[in-house]
Amino acid sequence: MIYIRQINIDDFNEIVKIHKDVFADHFLGQYSANLIKRYYLQFFEKTTFLIIEENEKICGFILGGHEKTLDSCKQAFIDSNKCMYLLESIYRPQIYVKGIKKFFEYFIKNKNTQKPSQYSYRLLSMGISKNQQKKGFGKKLLNCFEKISLANTKIYGVSCMRDNRVASNFYIKNGFNLEKKCSKSLYFYKKI
Ligand SMILES: CC(C)(COP(=O)(O)OP(=O)(O)OC[C@H]1O[C@@H](n2cnc3c(N)ncnc32)[C@H](O)[C@@H]1OP(=O)(O)O)[C@@H](O)C(=O)NCCC(=O)NCCS
Repeated sequence: MIYIRQINIDDFNEIVKIHKDVFADHFLGQYSANLIKRYYLQFFEKTTFLIIEENEKICGFILGGHEKTLDSCKQAFIDSNKCMYLLESIYRPQIYVKGIKKFFEYFIKNKNTQKPSQYSYRLLSMGISKNQQKKGFGKKLLNCFEKISLANTKIYGVSCMRDNRVASNFYIKNGFNLEKKCSKSLYFYKKI
């Protein structure tokens, strides 16, 4: 049986496994499971954070909300994990520069910096375990996320890496429009 529900505190180890499975080559995916778990825990009960399970086995997750809330969760993660984040960044040459840059960006906030997207309600992250993809789980999660989000917004945005063809196809197939292309990312929006 397929079931979508709000995430529970006991589900986070499984979310980290899925994150490591599908985002292994992305920035956050290269940090330790412990740090990734600490990151996701910051969003618990403050955002729309859903999981999909089949026969009680978690197959995927979706996470989003207002960008102010999302930003404050990210800031709280950095504030409470400074040492661990910096140490792990230093020991990972492939993300060292980006990791340190992101760290300082949280402390030197320039209010004049233009946001890449005009849509303040955001789908931050979603992932379906590799062996469960292309079975319609992503679409089901997205539909549920939209039903819940409708209480707060009629339009929302999402971004993905430019070279993530699967994600961009998925978003276009699910009714998103392209907002803009940046050097490394694509920005989409959707009216619910
Ligand atoms: C993107 C992702 C969430 C899609 O989840 P999914 O459960 O596989 O998607 P669905 O089965 O619901 O597919 C819905 C539609 O998306 C498109 N799609 C999904 N996987 C695709 C693939 N591998 N190649 C091309 N199109 C694909 C299809 O058009 C599909 O519709 P169809 O079945 O009518 O052809 C999943 O592939 C994933 O977790 N990817 C890795 C993580 C990621 O990139 N997340 C998004 C960026 S934040």
